[in-house]
Amino acid sequence: MHDEYILQIIGITKDYPGVRALDDVKLEVRSGEVHALVGENGAGKSTLIKILAGALRRDEGEILFDDANVEINSPQEAQRLGISVIYQEFNLVPHLSVSENIFLGREMTRAPFRIINRKREEREAEKILSGLGVTLNPRTPINRLGVAGQQIVEIAKALCADAKLIAMDEPSSALTEREIENLFALIRKLRSDGVSIIYISHRLDEVFQIADRVTVLRDGRWIGTFPVDKMSKDELIEMMVGRKLDEGFPKGNAEMGGEILSLKGVTRKGIIEDISFELREGEILGITGLVGAGRTEVVRAIFGADEIDEGEIYLDGNKVEIKSPIDAIKMGISLLTEDRKAYGLILDMTVRENITLASLKNFSKFSFVRRRQEWEVADRFINELRIKTPSREQIARNLSGGNQQKVVLSKWLLANSKVVIFDEPTKGIDVGSKVEIYQLMSRLAENGAGIIMISSELPEVLGMSDRIIVMYEGRITAELAAENATQAQIMTYATSSIKRDFQHENQISE
Ligand SMILES: Nc1ncnc2c1ncn2[C@@H]1O[C@H](COP(=O)(O)OP(=O)(O)OP(=O)(O)O)[C@@H](O)[C@H]1O
Ligand SMILES: [Mg+2]
Repeated sequence: MHDEYILQIIGITKDYPGVRALDDVKLEVRSGEVHALVGENGAGKSTLIKILAGALRRDEGEILFDDANVEINSPQEAQRLGISVIYQEFNLVPHLSVSENIFLGREMTRAPFRIINRKREEREAEKILSGLGVTLNPRTPINRLGVAGQQIVEIAKALCADAKLIAMDEPSSALTEREIENLFALIRKLRSDGVSIIYISHRLDEVFQIADRVTVLRDGRWIGTFPVDKMSKDELIEMMVGRKLDEGFPKGNAEMGGEILSLKGVTRKGIIEDISFELREGEILGITGLVGAGRTEVVRAIFGADEIDEGEIYLDGNKVEIKSPIDAIKMGISLLTEDRKAYGLILDMTVRENITLASLKNFSKFSFVRRRQEWEVADRFINELRIKTPSREQIARNLSGGNQQKVVLSKWLLANSKVVIFDEPTKGIDVGSKVEIYQLMSRLAENGAGIIMISSELPEVLGMSDRIIVMYEGRITAELAAENATQAQIMTYATSSIKRDFQHENQISE
């Protein structure tokens, strides 16, 4: 049983103008295995999954599913075969509810008139969601959810499709440890039921934790397929990037200067409560906690994206009113958000335009000089951050997810701010580029900027921060010096009353 393949992808090639995204790629997935697919940003992972999902046409190659040669020309056909996909870029309908999205195209109907049975859908949705360990109202419209919530819905949608094969394109990138553990428990259960999983992630620890075998892609080519227990993390990284790599956190030695930003008792009723902290020049302040703990809401308040009910914000010792993001940018505050599509990136503009947009006024007034300067700056970032693009004039939409993230990053790095806020800066970024982003962060700090880094990845928080703030349910529960802090300690403060919560949930379900 274990040796039979549910899926064999053979010799797949896919060209885009100027880019060969896939070149003679193969992928063989056994029944009931978790098969990881790894590679750097732009390696071709998502392209391969989209072809499998019928969302994209291949130029060459064959797909065998359940031993039959199949043409998958549409997502509906993929679904009919029993292939279900969690997309990296979510595929949800914003104004529909959570449960409507989960059952979209597979509505539960009631005889005799095939009326859609919303109540039953909502009950089923609730069951799937609580299996994932989250409480989310099935009637909430999607556009009211944050990135993490949307990711959960995308996962739930794939899980309830009764698939033989589920491809998950970075399903964990917006989730925290606890939610990932629930997801893994579900994956293990699916596997024991004989379902096969293709699992894409840049978090290699996850690959070793959950996968049976791993296939490595590099520059659109198949590099190899291996059982994970026969290989080390270093070997895997070397295979992915084609060179040896120093992992770790290149934290610089920035000198700490005076206080640049401080919050005193900042409150948004029912969302964040009595938030106070200071940030100094050259300092990297990590803010961590579970998804939904209010971390993003704190930086939205600083950035003028949400109004605050109480409390004060000081910049350079002066009390300020930050009424909008434009105010914030003028005052020298930058925000790099986790939701790059909503805030950071203009998809229909070129890479160059996106990079230089926020700082155009810094370029020369003479159009011909200016153009040259813009080119130079864009090319410099493309090189430094190794943004994979055929040219600076490529439309941002056509870059891979991680490369889009790097473009947004360049834009803010160029804006020369006093306070730079990173919200999950390495989400979806490959191992090699992560190090480059950390180096840039250190460089900003060394140049005197104050940095706030929100992150759920504890090694990153511990490795890069000078000081760490932990949040739980809208409040700060701890402030720790990074040198002495441990993961276990942070988790305790981040989950202070989870035990009670679980009991509460159990009571409800009885
Ligand atoms: N619509 C498109 N037009 C042109 N090029 C594209 C298009 N979609 C993807 N590409 C290119 O194809 C290559 C593979 O992209 P893909 O999204 O599959 O990478 P990936 O491995 O999923 O990367 P990531 O880890 O960043 O998500 C990249 O070089 C990308 O720029
Ligand atoms: Mg991708």
